[in-house]
Amino acid sequence: MSTIRVAVAGATGYAGEELIRLLLVHPHVQLTHLAASAKWERPVAVSTVFPRFARQCDLPLESLDPQRLAASCDAAFLALPHGVAMTLVPALLKAGKQVIDLSGDFRLKDAALFTQWYGKPHTHPELLGEAVYGITELSAQAIAKARLVANPGCYATSVILACAPLLKAGLVEPDWIVIDAKSGLTGAGRKSETQLLFAEMHENLWAYKVNHHQHVPEIEQALAPFAGGAPLGLCFVPHVVPLNRGILSSIYLRLVKPATWEQVDALYRDFYRHAPFVRLRPKDQWPQLRDVEGTNYCDLAFAVDAAQRGLILSSAIDNLLKGAAGQAVQNLNLMRGWPETAGLL
Ligand SMILES: NC(=O)c1ccc[n+]([C@@H]2O[C@H](COP(=O)([O-])OP(=O)(O)OC[C@H]3O[C@@H](n4cnc5c(N)ncnc54)[C@H](OP(=O)(O)O)[C@@H]3O)[C@@H](O)[C@H]2O)c1
Repeated sequence: MSTIRVAVAGATGYAGEELIRLLLVHPHVQLTHLAASAKWERPVAVSTVFPRFARQCDLPLESLDPQRLAASCDAAFLALPHGVAMTLVPALLKAGKQVIDLSGDFRLKDAALFTQWYGKPHTHPELLGEAVYGITELSAQAIAKARLVANPGCYATSVILACAPLLKAGLVEPDWIVIDAKSGLTGAGRKSETQLLFAEMHENLWAYKVNHHQHVPEIEQALAPFAGGAPLGLCFVPHVVPLNRGILSSIYLRLVKPATWEQVDALYRDFYRHAPFVRLRPKDQWPQLRDVEGTNYCDLAFAVDAAQRGLILSSAIDNLLKGAAGQAVQNLNLMRGWPETAGLL
């Protein structure tokens, strides 16, 4: 099978680094262009920034130039800060390129909602309707036909994959979804901030953006169809934990009707019967970050609290893989009609 040309914009960031690592060994792509901010006006070899790529990739890292980016590739991954991707996408689409955007720019369908949560106006609201929100397991058909995929947020991926089957089955109350989520530090990006210093993080733990994290509206938007139009009630408490990578979400739900562990297990197994990257843990065995680290898997487990009519979920992913670069490659695989697992196992 011939290969396609692929570019990564935001190649010096954490998600960009993972994209390069995955794409270098992907059987159907050739990495042709790596770009980042204007500070790379004088290009340097990617192995200067990431020595792990020495003798594997000799592409230069260049400053982002929309024309050069579009000319260099058939498909582009944009691993850029919110607000930057939207300046590039129209030209890439016009040039006939496929785009997978890892930022929040095209995740929300409503431009006003984007402004409310990201604090800036959307400059290309006309593309919001076309962008496909890319939780691969839930929107495979639409992704396969998409020109533009909005790759979901990392927390959002862990929560949506865990909750969608239960909401679709009408087994839990949609207006009572309590999420306690913990993320490793790479979730904040490769930047220097006092709060992210080793001495601040080490042996420490804190909640942040309680109920106002920007992933709240995309979780609501993605789960709404599974809840059949019923209003969703989300309480979302994210935490930073002193780990490099990984997200563990503990989710508390209320059962609408009594259910046994075996019934819920059967429901999940049926829902994800064609999903190679979703793994259900056996009874009383709970997901661990080390089992998903470096992989594109989402590990799920649950317990039924019959006395309280409660259901407790645990969902683990690697924020940089199933939560970012891995899911982005999984989406490209669908967009090109390749096996979903290509380059990911
Ligand atoms: N980290 C995660 O776990 C995760 C998960 C899901 C989604 N995401 C999303 O993916 C995107 C990238 O995340 P990240 O964690 O990889 O961020 P990051 O580590 O901060 O990297 C950001 C990248 O964007 C480049 N950049 C910044 N401003 C730019 C500009 N104006 N023009 C061109 N390039 C620019 C940076 O290049 P320089 O080196 O030149 O500054 C760097 O390559 C973000 O939108 C993030 O929200 C991240």
